[in-house]
Amino acid sequence: MEFATKTIHAGQPSEPGTGALMAPIFQTSTYEQDAPGEHRGFDYSRTNNPTRQRLETVLAELEGVQHAAVFASGLAAENAVLQAYLKPGDEIVIPLDVYGGTYRLLNRVFAPLGCTVRQVDASSPEVIRAALTPRTKLVWIESPTNPRLLVYDIARICRAAHAENALVVVDNTFATPYFQQPFELGADIVVHSVTKYLAGHSDLIQGAVLAKDAGVFEPIKFLQNAAGAVPSPFDCWLTLRGLKTLELRMQRHAENAFAIAHALAGQPLVRRVYFPGLPDHPGHAIARRQMTGFGGMVSFELDGTPDEVAAFVSGRRYFALGESLGGVKSLICLPAKMTHASIPADARAALGLSDSLIRLSPGCENATDLVSDLLAGLTALEATRGLALATCP
Ligand SMILES: Cc1ncc(COP(=O)(O)O)c(C=O)c1O
Repeated sequence: MEFATKTIHAGQPSEPGTGALMAPIFQTSTYEQDAPGEHRGFDYSRTNNPTRQRLETVLAELEGVQHAAVFASGLAAENAVLQAYLKPGDEIVIPLDVYGGTYRLLNRVFAPLGCTVRQVDASSPEVIRAALTPRTKLVWIESPTNPRLLVYDIARICRAAHAENALVVVDNTFATPYFQQPFELGADIVVHSVTKYLAGHSDLIQGAVLAKDAGVFEPIKFLQNAAGAVPSPFDCWLTLRGLKTLELRMQRHAENAFAIAHALAGQPLVRRVYFPGLPDHPGHAIARRQMTGFGGMVSFELDGTPDEVAAFVSGRRYFALGESLGGVKSLICLPAKMTHASIPADARAALGLSDSLIRLSPGCENATDLVSDLLAGLTALEATRGLALATCP
C-alpha cells in the first residue's frame, strides 16, 4: 500500500455495525462487559479506545513499524520515553539544536532526578561517539531541527550509538513520515508532536511514540496506561481526519517553503536563510540522501534591530504570529522570545540561536501570496531605513 493510500485506509475500515464509511468517535470512558473480566478488547478508555486504536494503527503503518502509542501532547510522549529509559545515574546525549520544551524537560525534570544530559554538536557522529559512556541509555535527535533546520546523519548516528548499546530516538515532527523514515535509517524509537503536521490544522495537542521492537515498546505502552497521559477520542478522530490529507498537505507545505526560501535568499536585509533544500545549507547533501523532500519549514535571520524584527513578525498579513507549526494556516515566530525562550539567553547564544532568527511555517495558502507578504515586510523595512538615512544630518 502506498503512503497516501495508507493515510486513508490503514486501520480504518468502514464501521462494521452500521457501515458508516468514516469511523465514529467512540466517546466513552468504559465498556459493558459480557461477564466479570470478559470484554471485547476494551475495558476502560485510558487503557484502550477504538478511535485511538485506529489512529495508532495508521501511525504505525506510516512509519513502517507495528507499535504506536499516542499521548495527550508531544511532550507527554517524550516524557514516556524518558521515564521508560532514563534512571538516576543514566546519561542522554542530545544535539545543540533541540526543541526548547525537550531541553526544558531534560534539564528541569530529568537532570534534577540525577540524569546527565550531554548536549553536543551532532553534526559530527565522531562527537556523538566521544560523548557516549557505558551509562548512555539514549541518543536523542531531531532532524531537521527546530528552529535552524539543521540536518543530522541519522544512519551514522545510529551506528555510533548502537556500538555503545544506546537506543536512538528520532523526533520526526518536522519531516513527518512522508519525507523521512527514521526506522529505515536505524532508529529505535520515533516521537512526534502530532499537534503539528500529522494533525495539520492547528486545532489540537497530541503526541506519539513509535517503536520497531516489541521489547523496546513495552515499557512505553505500559506508561501510556499507568501514567495515563492519553488523548481524548475526539482529538484522535480529528487527527485521523487530518492524516487523510497528509501527503497533499506536505507537498504543498514543501512547495511553499521552497518558493519562500528562494525568494528570501539574496535579499539585502536577510542575513541567512535556513532551508535544507538550498544547496548552500550545510545539511543539504544529507537531506538529499535521507529525506524524500526538504520539508515545509524555513527559518531566516533578519538584519534588523530588536524593534524592527518585532515589527516584521507582528506585521504580516498571512503569517499569524504564534507558536507551533505544521498547520494549513501560515505561522511566523521568533524562537528566542517564544518557542525557545525556556533556554537561558547565554545557552541560546552558545547554541548559535540568535535573537533575530525568524521561523516560518508556511501553510497551504498560495505561494505567491505568502512570498509577497514577506517581501512587503522587507520593502517596508528598507523604506524606514531609507527614511532614517535621508533624515540624517
Ligand atoms: C520538534 C518538536 N518536538 C516536540 C514538541 C512538543 O510537542 P507538543 O507541543 O505537542 O507537546 C514540539 C512542539 O513545538 C516540537 O516542535
